[in-house]
Amino acid sequence: MKKWLLLFILLLALTPVIIIGGGLVPITSVAVLWNTLTGSGIDTPQQQVLDQRFQLADGFSLNVYAGDLPNARFMAISEHQAILVSRPHQGDVVLIQPDQQNKTVGGQRDILIQGLTRPSGIAIHQGWLYIGEANRIGRIAFDSATASTSGDYQTLVSGLTDDGNHPYKQIKIGPDGMLYLSQGSTCNVCLEEDSRRATMSRYQLDGSGEQLIATGLRNTMGFDWAPWNNALYGTDNGRDMLGDDYPPCELNLIEAGQFYGWPYFNGANQADPDFPEAPKALASSAQPPAFEFPAHNAPLGMTFIDAATLPDRFEKTALVALHGSWNRSVPDGYKVVSLHWQQGEIVSRDLISGFEKNADVIGRPVDIAQGSDGAIYISDDYAGAIYRLVYDGNDNQQNAATSTATAPATSAALTPISLTTPSWLTDDNREALYQRGQAIVAQRPCLRCHQTATPNSNLDLASIGQRRQYQQIIERLIQPTPPMPNYSFSEEDQKALAVYLVFESLKPK
Ligand code: HEC
Repeated sequence: MKKWLLLFILLLALTPVIIIGGGLVPITSVAVLWNTLTGSGIDTPQQQVLDQRFQLADGFSLNVYAGDLPNARFMAISEHQAILVSRPHQGDVVLIQPDQQNKTVGGQRDILIQGLTRPSGIAIHQGWLYIGEANRIGRIAFDSATASTSGDYQTLVSGLTDDGNHPYKQIKIGPDGMLYLSQGSTCNVCLEEDSRRATMSRYQLDGSGEQLIATGLRNTMGFDWAPWNNALYGTDNGRDMLGDDYPPCELNLIEAGQFYGWPYFNGANQADPDFPEAPKALASSAQPPAFEFPAHNAPLGMTFIDAATLPDRFEKTALVALHGSWNRSVPDGYKVVSLHWQQGEIVSRDLISGFEKNADVIGRPVDIAQGSDGAIYISDDYAGAIYRLVYDGNDNQQNAATSTATAPATSAALTPISLTTPSWLTDDNREALYQRGQAIVAQRPCLRCHQTATPNSNLDLASIGQRRQYQQIIERLIQPTPPMPNYSFSEEDQKALAVYLVFESLKPK
């Protein structure tokens, strides 16, 4: 980092906003901004603090597996359960041996390899440890049985640019046996000079045969393949400087040859205000996200998990670490969520929250890895920790979910409510409000989540006029239930949506 920038930030240390790129950005806290820029953090909190602060999904428990590990970023787990973790600012990869007596805490800890250039993504595959450094990809022979390296470090891909905002490189080995590389953008929003930035590409395992896979990905730090169909999904961080609630961060279904919008389009292909003249052809080809996270949540690592040791509702599930906002007036994100692929939609639930409480931040989750015993490990580059999450409980939600799933659909029949017309809704403005609401729904990805809803459930907008008063709908738009995004609609838009949704649902079918 440039010294003047450090000094500048120090001078601004007590102000709640910072000027970046010519505009004012509210900052969550100086310590969090500092963590984003320099990788600095706090001491790992005591277990007692975590027990008080963290809320876990039903039936889970969590403990600190390894602490005092500043800047712990991405992980790989060896066959015999050693955890390898990259630390970009230290330029190393640390290896934590399993403890022979106690599975719940890490054993001996060694620096496995050092002197690297900001290493980030790491992967173990067929006797090699692959490392994504900011400026190259390398590998070294790695024996999983003894958890040791041998021979020389080989450079596979060199000459990667590491200037600007998102220098870290993420790598993984795909089910096709190829080495995938994701490179973030140099800037918040701009046209790149290096056409490899803000893209995903893949190589043979020896680094040869580079192929560009996808473009328009601003910063995809987490990606993984769905085990049931090998589809590739990746997280992407939306741009900054357009306010607290826009644009959304993304989960993309990444397909070969596709363009994912950045820098021209945000979220579901809404034109970016900095690029009002975006090429028309791009607008129709840009791929909208498969799922939207709230703005500035900063999804990083994502991993599809094996549900063998978990309740059934974790079938077809990926866990995503939301690192948390540094540039929002009220902090948001700071949790680990589970994304569930169910009946054509992706639903998000909180798995671990409480890293942030009333703007007090005690951790920022980065990556997720699952051990062969089913335990889930979460790295945290702010608290310098690796947590271990296990399912060991009775699960009420599980029973509830199973019973609704097996209940016959007809049992959800409902007695329609009688609608009260609010004073602001008149014969004169009804048509205009309806059309305004219709336009908003056409523009936004509402139906992506709502169209496959169970009839008469809360997700089923087609029955909303029989279930909800106008005011109740407005309240739910103002305070949406996650994963429904908060679109910060104006009052007029809230009314328009309520009118459109009610009338649409009461139309004779
Ligand atoms: C990312 C998925 C997602 C998107 C996109 C989304 N919603 Fe939702 N929405 C939800 C979920 C989940 C709920 C809560 C359902 C529940 O309570 O079980 C919800 C609830 C609602 C409710 C309250 C329903 C009720 O009866 O409680 C309304 C109204 C609503 N959404 C409207 C919209 C509109 C309008 C849009 C587009 C502007 C939209 N939603 C976009 C997921 C989404």
